[in-house]
Amino acid sequence: MSAAPGAAASAPSSISMRGVGKTFRRAKSSTGVEALRDITLDIEPNTFVSLVGPSGCGKTTLLRMLNGLIAPDRGEILVGGARPAPGPHMGFVFQSFRLLPWRTIRENVAFPVELSGMNTAERRDRADTYLDMVGLRRFADSYPTELSGGMKQRAALARALIAQPRYLLMDEPFAALDAQTREFMQIELAKIWSHHKSIVVFVTHSVDEAVLLSDRIVLLRPRPGQVAEVIDVKLPHPRWEYDARATPEFVEMRHYLWERIKDMVASDPESEFYQRSDRTDGNTSAAD
Ligand SMILES: Nc1ncnc2c1ncn2[C@@H]1O[C@H](COP(=O)(O)OP(=O)(O)OP(=O)(O)O)[C@@H](O)[C@H]1O
Ligand SMILES: [Mg+2]
Repeated sequence: MSAAPGAAASAPSSISMRGVGKTFRRAKSSTGVEALRDITLDIEPNTFVSLVGPSGCGKTTLLRMLNGLIAPDRGEILVGGARPAPGPHMGFVFQSFRLLPWRTIRENVAFPVELSGMNTAERRDRADTYLDMVGLRRFADSYPTELSGGMKQRAALARALIAQPRYLLMDEPFAALDAQTREFMQIELAKIWSHHKSIVVFVTHSVDEAVLLSDRIVLLRPRPGQVAEVIDVKLPHPRWEYDARATPEFVEMRHYLWERIKDMVASDPESEFYQRSDRTDGNTSAAD
C-alpha cells in the first residue's frame, strides 16, 4: 500500500513512486538525457528489492532520487510518507568503499552516529556491535589501507547500518570484490537483513545476485529508463541454508532475466552490442 501524499514522517516505512521522470540537461546544449520516464513503483516495508537492467537504464539515478540527493522533475517520490531527504534513516553503500583513510575502521563505522551527536562511549560500543556483525571487530583499530577489498566493503556496510536505517540503498556494492568474497558478502548481507528488517534497494549487474537476495526484482529498460517488469522471487528464506542456486526456480528466473537484458542491449542502437548475436559460434555482426 502506498503512503498518502504529505503524510507524517511516522507513516509506514514504505516507498512510493508515482510517474517519476528525470531528464539531465546538458551544458551548452538544448537537448538533455532523459534518464527515467514514468516510474511507478511501490516498495513495502521489510522488502529486499533489486534494480537490474542494462548499463545506463537509470538505476543509480533512481537510487540517488530515493536518497534525496537529486530531485525528480516529474512525478512524486515518498519515502515513509515524506519527500526523500538524506539522514540517519537512510543508509547508502556505494560500489567504492569511501572510507576515510585517516580514521580507524571503528571511527569510520561510527561516523554517522558521531554526526548525530551520540557520546563517545556509546558510539564506540555501537561501532563494535556492528563490527562484530560483519566479522571485523579484530580490525577496529586498523586503518582502511590495512584491510582487503572485502574487509573494506564489510566496514562500509557496518557504517551504513550503524544508525539503524529504515532504508538501505546499495549501488553495486559487491562489484569490486573477487567472486568468492562476493558470495560470502551476499550471505552476510542476507543474514544481516534477516535480523535488521528494513527496505533494501539494491542495484546490481549480476542477475544471479539479484535472484539470490531479492523478494522482488525490478527490471528496467533503457533510453529512457522505464520499468519493464516486476518479478517476485518466491524462493524460501533463509536462502543460505540450502543451495538456492541449484533449484529449478532459481535457474529458470536467472535465465529469463538474462535473456531479457541481452535482448534489450542487442536492440538498443546506442549500445556497443547493438544487433550483435549472442551466439557463441563466433558469428557475431557489429552494427554499422
Ligand atoms: N549527472 C548527470 N548528468 C548528465 N547525465 C547523467 C547524469 N547522471 C546520469 N546521467 C545519464 O542518465 C542515464 C542514466 O544513468 P545512470 O547512472 O542512472 O545509469 P545506470 O543504470 O546506473 O548505469 P550503470 O549500470 O552503467 O551504472 C545515462 O544516460 C547517463 O549518461
Ligand atoms: Mg549505476
